[in-house]
Amino acid sequence: MQNMSRTSPREYDIVPPEPAALIESLRSVGYTLPAAVADIIDNSIAAGAKNIRVTFHWAGKESYVLILDDGCGMTEDELRNAMKPGSRNPLEERRPEDLGRFGLGLKTASLSQCRNLCVASKTAKGALNVRTWDLDALINCPEWRLLLQPPSAAGAAIKKLEAMPKGSAVIWSALDRLIGDEQAGDAVAHARFNDAIDHVREHLGLTFHRFLEDRSVKLFLNEKSVPPWNPFMRDGRTPSSLTPEEFIQFGKSGVTFQGFVLPHKDALTEEEFQKNRGPRGWTAQQGFYVYRNKRLLVYGDWLRLGRPSAWTREEHYRLARIRLDILNDADAEWHLDVKKSTARPPVLIRERLTDLAENVRANARSVFAHRGKYGRRPPTTTNTERPWLSVVRENRRVYSINRDHPTVQAVMSAFPGKSPELTALLRLLEETVPVEQIWLDTAEQSRDHAPPYAGIEFTIIKADMRRVVEFLVKSGINRATAIERLRSIEPFDRYPKLINEL
Ligand SMILES: Nc1ncnc2c1ncn2[C@@H]1O[C@H](COP(=O)(O)OP(=O)(O)OP(=O)(O)O)[C@@H](O)[C@H]1O
Ligand SMILES: [Mg+2]
Repeated sequence: MQNMSRTSPREYDIVPPEPAALIESLRSVGYTLPAAVADIIDNSIAAGAKNIRVTFHWAGKESYVLILDDGCGMTEDELRNAMKPGSRNPLEERRPEDLGRFGLGLKTASLSQCRNLCVASKTAKGALNVRTWDLDALINCPEWRLLLQPPSAAGAAIKKLEAMPKGSAVIWSALDRLIGDEQAGDAVAHARFNDAIDHVREHLGLTFHRFLEDRSVKLFLNEKSVPPWNPFMRDGRTPSSLTPEEFIQFGKSGVTFQGFVLPHKDALTEEEFQKNRGPRGWTAQQGFYVYRNKRLLVYGDWLRLGRPSAWTREEHYRLARIRLDILNDADAEWHLDVKKSTARPPVLIRERLTDLAENVRANARSVFAHRGKYGRRPPTTTNTERPWLSVVRENRRVYSINRDHPTVQAVMSAFPGKSPELTALLRLLEETVPVEQIWLDTAEQSRDHAPPYAGIEFTIIKADMRRVVEFLVKSGINRATAIERLRSIEPFDRYPKLINEL
């Protein structure tokens, strides 16, 4: 060997990375706390765990986070390998139900939140083994020293695991990103810690909702079971409407598409409206929900699809939510990232996805725009008579006042000699509808604008209703029928109780 190096030119240098420097950089991959916890739970689910217990233990600087599962566990060799950054090649084929890809998550997710990562694990047949990465022990150390001893924070968890037939425990301590130097008695820091737990609960309930709903996994956070949050509103008094499932094949893989249009706010109780708004609120929750093996990766995103330019999240599409199920054999095509929080559709299927999504968006828009198309009001046999019509004139959309609307007709007939003036007034209103202003106001304020007659006294609404009834009676309809007809005339149809009182 020495001889060879004297005779042949040197072909390479060996440059092992500085452990402390590399890990410090890896810490900044950009995980949020909820995404980091989800990444650890992915491993538990992939290991066949049925019960996963997450504990956030508050003790100031001594606080720790524990994720304990009853999955298959790891032998000592497997554990040692699992702690290695890059424990598996991302190009390797994985079992279809495996949630991993990069051989990094356990390390990057954990160390993004803490300076001490301890994993204890045991298989059904083997003994319990422990390994620890302690970033402070790596400082000024040129070797990748994986410790055999647990930190004191791991003691309780290891005891729990010892009492189980098999499983794994991941313990994060020295939580510098979450806590810093605060004492256990620091109320503000404690409240912040509790807020963080709430965010984690919300994120886990959404990310793993399909596992929780089909009861393949039970997930507990500080001993309380995590409630699933389903974005598609298929239960309840007013379920969403849905498109048939469509499988789009590309290469050896494929994706399943299903679109949902959620009910209009009018059809929901305040409680239902709040419950289904989602972590980010109605407008931000619109778009695609991409699942990989039932696990949610990305949500509330139009995935840069759209024509002629990429769609953005807009108020009037807020009722559109689309489910995409992808398989883990096309991770590279979907540009999956280590954090499992981005995915971009492969070029081959973008057109088809855009076509299908366009259809769902159009339906969602019409449900959103036609207040009360869905709702608590009794069904009517005749079509609703709307005061405004949306029509296309010379390729441009214009809004015209419906000349057949009974209120308009009543005014027209009350001033028979003034027809040109009245027509001019209607035309003025139609030609100057402040569409852009309305659009800007609704987009900016993210709040719903006032429904017709909101805040106006009932006596005034009733007087307006009576005027229409009088007109209908004059035109030869009997009074009872005229009153009934109000139920299909917008906006009076929104007030069935007042109609009953006429
Ligand atoms: N809770 C666990 N139970 C059993 N095995 C585990 C557990 N956590 C991790 N492992 C093993 O450790 C390996 C490394 O996990 P890690 O999360 O770092 O990478 P990965 O899951 O393979 O890929 P990814 O980076 O995409 O998450 C896993 O492939 C698995 O074999
Ligand atoms: Mg993983």
